[in-house]
Parts: sequence; structure tokens; C-alpha cells
Amino acid sequence: MCGIVGYIGKRDAVPILMEGLQRLEYRGYDSAGIAVAHAGSLRVSKCQGKVRELEKRLPARFKGSPGIAHTRWATHGEPSDRNAHPHCDSANRFAVIHNGIIENAGALRTRLQADGVLFRSDTDSEVLVHLIAAMPEGPLDVAVRAALRLVVGTYGIAVLDAARPEALVVARNGSPLVLGIGEHEMFFASDASAFVRHTRSVVHLDDGEVAVVRTDSFETSTLEGDVTAKSPLTIAWSSEALDKGAFAHHMRKEIAEQPDAVRRTLSGRLERRFQTSHLGGIELAARELLEVRRIKILGCGSAYIAGCLGAQLIEQLARIPAHAEAASEFRYRNPVIEQDTLYIAVSQSGETFDTLAAVQELKRKGGRVLGIVNSVGSTIARECGRGIYIHAGPEIAVVSTKTFTCTAVAFALLALHLGRIRDLSTAHGDRLLDALSALPEQLEGIIAREEEIQHMARHLASCEHAYFVGRAAGYAVAMEGALKLKEVSYLHAEAYAASELKHGPLALISPETPTVIVMPRDDLFRKNVSTIEEIRARRGPVLVVTHPGDLPTPVDGAFEVPASEPELDPILLNLPLQLLAYHVALQKGREIDQPRNLAKSVTVE
Ligand code: AGP
Repeated sequence: MCGIVGYIGKRDAVPILMEGLQRLEYRGYDSAGIAVAHAGSLRVSKCQGKVRELEKRLPARFKGSPGIAHTRWATHGEPSDRNAHPHCDSANRFAVIHNGIIENAGALRTRLQADGVLFRSDTDSEVLVHLIAAMPEGPLDVAVRAALRLVVGTYGIAVLDAARPEALVVARNGSPLVLGIGEHEMFFASDASAFVRHTRSVVHLDDGEVAVVRTDSFETSTLEGDVTAKSPLTIAWSSEALDKGAFAHHMRKEIAEQPDAVRRTLSGRLERRFQTSHLGGIELAARELLEVRRIKILGCGSAYIAGCLGAQLIEQLARIPAHAEAASEFRYRNPVIEQDTLYIAVSQSGETFDTLAAVQELKRKGGRVLGIVNSVGSTIARECGRGIYIHAGPEIAVVSTKTFTCTAVAFALLALHLGRIRDLSTAHGDRLLDALSALPEQLEGIIAREEEIQHMARHLASCEHAYFVGRAAGYAVAMEGALKLKEVSYLHAEAYAASELKHGPLALISPETPTVIVMPRDDLFRKNVSTIEEIRARRGPVLVVTHPGDLPTPVDGAFEVPASEPELDPILLNLPLQLLAYHVALQKGREIDQPRNLAKSVTVE
């Protein structure tokens, strides 16, 4: 989604902002723009397309400070030069960048037009700059507050007044904004990756907050003007974590990072003494956890699918009924909130609008919610107030890989913790701790056999459609495998519970439609063998991801993963499917890290 970056300080803002825009590219966008103050006037450049297009278009000697810059992901108005941000007022004094949606933009536009304002774009965002320019002369933050009080909708905005370049004003309501505190310079952005090369000291704005940012200071307050107190956090990762290094794609790098990422998820959390896990952040005592009768997990996309795996882990290990639901659906169906249910919100970015809205709805109705989140200090993490950070490190590719795996590991830790409070035996706890500790090495072993997956990928790269099937936890793995393939290769991939195949989809099985079967050697193995036979009888190609051992029936390709404890098997079975999606996309020449139409962090409804 849209990305915001800003700089105020003694240096020329342009190279800092351009680098910031590149860092924000992963969020997904269709146009980019920049505005800087120079000798009392505004200099603006913007265009449809990539940041490198903007770079080419920048006029010679385009310099200035302070400055703001933006990557736009179109909501109102097609992607075009004129709809790209920043937007300026008629006198070209103020520049505004905006992330979010102004719901009453139509009415505000009509009113401004009646007052003689000429609009230069089709965006909802442009109303903001004209509203600010129409306010009586006075401090910029006063004008911004007054304008925002007229607005209904969501926003992260930044405002530059070329006539008074000593301060920038930013505000947020529903779209992330984080300040970066430097030495005699300040930054802000939609996420810290835009400025982490310059500072790791950050302050997250809350909804309804406005900040006045100067070279040596910042001041935060509410929309009504009441001062708020903020203390900076230090982010744990450095800018190297954002680079591709020796890899061709961030997705491939992030797949390779999984063993270390899982080590971080596990670090300090394996409690050998009591054959359990230690999860300080959940802040719920054993007595309170014993009162939990149900668990409901909410998330979107891969976070939701990781929640499906989590629900199964919790049911298996703790015998607490658990269920995952898409956060977007949950919040729209006026859910019944129960006191003895524990709600868990899952999000890599911690900024997904639908998941955040579900958490807010839950809290409003008195529900208990904890977060499983990657991005430290993110909005969902702060809104939940307690939970488990997965510590996977920054994930730049639009598709989730390492964060899916680490989320599943976090669920395993939680399920172990809940299980050991209830009836899970010490012996079972011990076995799980051993199996969790072994995961990083097992993941390494799978990644080292990438060539085998490359072969399997050829079967899919030449097709238009594919099925992914599995039973029980294997079904959740199939769902994630299909989502991954769809996102990066643009193949039509559908996941089905293997048991459902003959209730419909079998009609579409043909030599042109391969099926990937996730089949651990568990109680359901024989049933999956029958599924293979049903597909082969219709001459459908079959690829399987399974455990070592002979297959009683021929298949077109098989990848064997090492066995773990049965409950943890899905974590290992999923990794080959990530590599499979990657190699199909590679063979098809897709734009792997930024698939068309997708954004990393979906901060609008
Ligand atoms: C995963 O590959 C997707 N890009 C997407 O489904 C993602 O998982 C979803 O948008 C949720 O994001 P979050 O984890 O940041 O909340």
C-alpha cells in the first residue's frame, strides 16, 4: 500500500527520500513523487510507474530540505502522473502526501470547488491540501488539526509548508506512521525500513495523534491539541537485513533465512526444566489460561492460514477447541464475543487494516486478545498489548515465507504451553522441545535440496491450473502452497481438502491439471494414497510432498521432508511448497518480489 517518507535536517533531503522510496517499494505501489522546500518555494516531481522512473524524471539540480515523498497504491483515481502524490494547493505553497482513504472527499471537494478551488487530480487525498491552505494563517499544526477535524476516513499524512520550512507536520488515523530520531535530523515513514540506515531510534504514532517534527525535536499531541508523551524504542535489525545480499530475490533470501528466523522465534522460550515453553509476553497466568474454553484465531491471507495450523496445534496439544477465521469476515458479522474465549490476532506487518479492525471490535466488546506479530511496536501489537513476537526479522518480499513458518512455530510454543498447563505429559513435552530445537537444521537440509524442487516446478510451469490437496494439517499446508503459487506465478491454484475431491473438483482433473498432495506418513497416509489413485485414474499428474519411504503407487514427482513430531510436521512440509512457488515463478519470468496488484501490508479496507 502507499508509502510515506519524510526528512528534516541539514542535509539535502532528495537522496535520503529517494532511497527511502526504494526501501518502501516492497509495500506495492503504482506511482511515486517527491516535494522539497527550496529557497521559500516548493519543488515537486511525480509520475506514474516505479521509483526509478521518478529518479530519471527528476530535474537537474533538484535539491532542497525538508522534504516529503510518497509511493501511491491507487484507491480513488487511476494510476497516473496527475494522481501521484504529493498534492499541492493552488498557490503551490503546501504539499501533502496521504496514505488511507478520505470517505467524505466527495462532499469536501464540492464545497471547495464552490469556493473556487481548482482540483488537479481525481484523488480523495487532494482535498486535504486545499483544506489546509484554506485555514487562517497561523501555525501549520493548527491548520492541519482543523482540516483533519473535517475529514472522515483513514490517514497517515505529512504536510510541508514551503513558506515555513522549519517544521513538518504528520498525523495518523488508521495508517501507520513512525518517526525516526536522528542526530540533529528527523525522519518519518510508513515503516522504519525507509530510514533505518540513518537511525534505529523510533517513535510510533498512535491513531488520532499529530506530530510537529523539527530538526532537533518533535512534539506529539492529539487532534484536539493535548500534548501526548512518547518514548523512543530501538529497533533490533539493521539496514543490511533489508538488502537481497547474494540472492536474486528477497523471496528466495527470506526462504533461506528461515532456519535462523526459527532460531530467533525459539530463543529463550524453551523451558526444559518443566518440559514447556516460556512466553513472557502473553501476560496470562496459568490460572487464567485454565479458564480458557475456546480459542479463536484471526488473520488475513497467510496469517489466517498460519492460524489454521495454529488451531490444529492447540487442539492436538492442549485439547482446547480452536478455530481460525479470516479477520475481515469476522469483523463484519457482528461476532458474539465470549468471556471464556481467548482471541489471537496474527499479523506479520502488524498493520493489516482488517485484522486491526477485528482486534478493535473485540476489545470494544470486552474480548481478551493477544497478538502473534512480527513487526515490533506495530499497531496491532500495541493494540493487543500482549502476545508473542515471532522475531523473523524484516520481510520484504510481498509473499510471506519466513513469517509464515515462524508464526507456525510460535503457535507450537503456545500450544505446548497451554498443553502442559492441562494434560500434555512431561514425556510428550520433552519430545516436542527436542523436535522444536531440531527444526532449524531440518529446514536447512530441505533448502539444500532445492534442485529436486526445480524439477518438480517444471510440471507446474507449463500448466494454467493446479490443485493442492491434503487432509487435516496437510490441508492447511495445501492452502498455503496454493496461495503462494497463485501470488508469485499467477497460475490458478486451488486448495481442497483431499476428502472433498470427489465431491466436485475431480471433474476438472485432466493431464493438463496437476495436483500437489501434502501427505505426511500419519494415520491418513493410506487415504492420501487412494486420492493419488483417483487422480491418476483421470490421467492427472501428481506431485507429492511426503516423508521418507516407498510410495505404494507411482507419481510424477515426490519430495521427501524429514519427519518431526507429528504435530510439527506441517512446518517442514510447507517449506518445499514455498520453493516450488518460487521456481515456477522464476521459470515463468514473473516479478517475484512485487507480484502484480498486491501490496505487502494492506492498510486499507
Ligand atoms: C502472503 O503471502 C500475503 N502477501 C498476504 O496474504 C498476507 O499474509 C496478508 O495480507 C496478511 O498480512 P499481515 O500478516 O501483515 O497481516
